[in-house]
Amino acid sequence: MKSAAALSAALLLSFSTTAAAVEASASDFARQKFDFLVVGGGTAGLVVAARLTEDPKITVGIIEAGAYRPGDPLIEVPQSAVAPSNPNGKPLIGNPDYDWKFESTPQPGLNGTSLPYSRGKVVGGSSAINFIVWQRGAKQEYDLWSTAFGNGPRWSFAGLLPYFKKIEAWTAPPKSPLTVAVDPSAGLAGAHGTKGPLAISYNNFQTSIEQPAAQAGINMGLKENFNPDLGDNFGFSNVARSVHPTKGIRTYAGNSYYTPNAQRKNLVLLTGAEVTQVVFATSRKGITATGVKEVILSAGSIKTPQLLELSGVGNKQLLSKYKIPVVLNLPGVGENLQDHAFAGQDFRLKPGAVTLDNLNFNATFKAQQQELFNSSGKGLLSWTIPIAAPVTLQSLIGTTETNKLVGSLTQSLNKIKQTPLQKVQYKAQLALLKAGEVPQLNLIVYPTGNFVSAAAPNTSYVTMTIMEVHPYSRGSVHIGSAQPLAAPIINPDLLSIPYEAQILVKAQQFSERWMASQPVGKLVVGPNAPSAAVISDAEWESFVRTHTQTINHPIGTTAMAPRAMGGVVDPQLKVYGLQNVRIVDAGIFPLTISVPIQQTVYAVAELGADLIKETWGIKA
Ligand SMILES: Cc1cc2nc3c(=O)[nH]c(=O)nc-3n(C[C@H](O)[C@H](O)[C@H](O)COP(=O)(O)OP(=O)(O)OC[C@H]3O[C@@H](n4cnc5c(N)ncnc54)[C@H](O)[C@@H]3O)c2cc1C
Ligand SMILES: *[C@@H]1O[C@H](CO)[C@@H](O)[C@H](O)[C@H]1NC(C)=O
Ligand SMILES: *[C@@H]1O[C@H](CO)[C@@H](O)[C@H](O)[C@H]1NC(C)=O
Ligand SMILES: *[C@@H]1O[C@H](CO)[C@@H](O)[C@H](O)[C@H]1NC(C)=O
Ligand SMILES: *[C@@H]1O[C@H](CO)[C@@H](O)[C@H](O)[C@H]1NC(C)=O
Repeated sequence: MKSAAALSAALLLSFSTTAAAVEASASDFARQKFDFLVVGGGTAGLVVAARLTEDPKITVGIIEAGAYRPGDPLIEVPQSAVAPSNPNGKPLIGNPDYDWKFESTPQPGLNGTSLPYSRGKVVGGSSAINFIVWQRGAKQEYDLWSTAFGNGPRWSFAGLLPYFKKIEAWTAPPKSPLTVAVDPSAGLAGAHGTKGPLAISYNNFQTSIEQPAAQAGINMGLKENFNPDLGDNFGFSNVARSVHPTKGIRTYAGNSYYTPNAQRKNLVLLTGAEVTQVVFATSRKGITATGVKEVILSAGSIKTPQLLELSGVGNKQLLSKYKIPVVLNLPGVGENLQDHAFAGQDFRLKPGAVTLDNLNFNATFKAQQQELFNSSGKGLLSWTIPIAAPVTLQSLIGTTETNKLVGSLTQSLNKIKQTPLQKVQYKAQLALLKAGEVPQLNLIVYPTGNFVSAAAPNTSYVTMTIMEVHPYSRGSVHIGSAQPLAAPIINPDLLSIPYEAQILVKAQQFSERWMASQPVGKLVVGPNAPSAAVISDAEWESFVRTHTQTINHPIGTTAMAPRAMGGVVDPQLKVYGLQNVRIVDAGIFPLTISVPIQQTVYAVAELGADLIKETWGIKA
């Protein structure tokens, strides 16, 4: 059952009476007058709302389509998201109570398959359902945001660093057990903040795999990195996680930016309500969202472009096709979708190895781990993926092979009719690729089966996955109907460029050598899926193209770049051509980064909140 309503004249809403508790009753919410309306109570939206309402005179209303689920163990016990087969029954990812459960269009680069596209639909957004990995990109990647797209020094690594710190209540890694050693002289503490809302910590439990896997990788020439958070993130480090250090629970925008501030009189959350349109008035002053100082769109990189198009802001040809009156022709909306492709293979381990699989087949072990988690917040239930090693292509296959692949890539790119944005992006990306300092792949070691293939009974596995971090494919997300509650059409166009599959093939072959080398090799029986019979590049490519997924990092669909280049927002995050609408979410990244993106989304939101405060002279 759905019903519709108008709100402060600025937004149209549709209520889902099937969603759980509405925090503010819809009629109360509609009666109030807000200074700012935030669309989407997700990762970025809750940061903005929390920061603006530090000033008690400023009123903020948040509209979130999902429900508020404080203390929900499915969200808070890290294992619910991290284990691919959750032994507790109900899944988190893919569960319609938490996930929009979108699907991509059939992907030509993936033998025509459609991919599941998860997006959080709950207070906290995707930070409530993600895999909890907490990583920071390389300095050069943020510096490109600042220079190549003319966004200025605040969007450089140095400009963002105070905002990375502002998020964090960071706890240093324990002395042991750890994936790699800790070097106190590396200055890790100096890269982190300790007074922010979001508790960040490190694993306190090791499976049988991470130490020997890291050691074997280091022996193969991939370096140890004692401080990946000051701009050089290459190699093996102890990967941080958005988990509370003593409670062991997931920390996310919901329990860290909203719950502690829920009592603020000037912060009002409406749940179970989907914004279907931003209502604009056009006058001599320009195009204005009516009734408020500003509307902040934080519906994420998939839903924000859809909402703009439904509201008449986008490519005018596309809008006309669906008979939506054009408020503003802004053809960059929904274009430039970049996502991280994710491919893996699994290896069978010898009996006695301890991985996530053991929770499934050893009831004694599971009960011990549950008890450990309940009593101390420690152990495998609060454990997260410990190795995510960003590496250059040269470090995996050498300079000669890399240069050959760069040659094939350059030829492919020359055949594309490039947009002005692509021209700038490709030039910058190729320069980074050739210089060989900024990672092109992130090697993620996932000690479990059931991801690439179904686990056999009583057997443990390691799945070696690879995240391709600097794609050249560009996709899009657009409305496919004027019906506001329909899902948008999502096409990331993964692996559309041969080079993208080629480097995944090379990385898979590297993983196979890696798992055969010591000290990890002695734990491994051998390749499981694919079998050891997959050897040639062609065989591997067929496997890669039929097993690649998205790791759920879509960005760029409302890029922060000059309007003439195809950008949608300016360096103030204001939408070009609109008087009082900003976008604060993952869609504004002009170019993606070498790591999972949540930390950067939070930093974008912290800086975005400051930009709004500066505009309106808000002090606190
Ligand atoms: C399964 C998964 C695993 C991931 N793993 C990791 C990881 O391990 N590490 C990492 O760094 N990153 C990870 N990410 C990525 C990261 O979590 C996201 O990129 C980030 O949280 C996005 O933040 P956002 O604010 O842009 O959007 P979101 O957090 O998705 O927030 C958007 C919010 O808007 C709401 N909304 C949308 N449309 C409307 C509307 N019309 N009206 C009202 N509300 C609306 C949504 O319900 C949602 O709550 C993962 C993501 C997923 C989905
Ligand atoms: C690709 O898809 C076709 C058609 O669905 C199927 O017949 C074929 O087996 C697939 N190829 C691989 C390698 O899985
Ligand atoms: C199950 O777990 C218990 C407790 O950790 C351990 O002692 C036992 O050896 C395990 N059994 C198997 C079959 O792995
Ligand atoms: C741990 O806590 C959960 C949730 O409160 C409970 O269901 C479970 O029985 C507890 N397990 C143990 C071993 O204490
Ligand atoms: C798995 O191990 C348990 C206990 O060690 C045993 O009872 C069971 O039969 C085994 N299952 C299979 C399918 O081998």
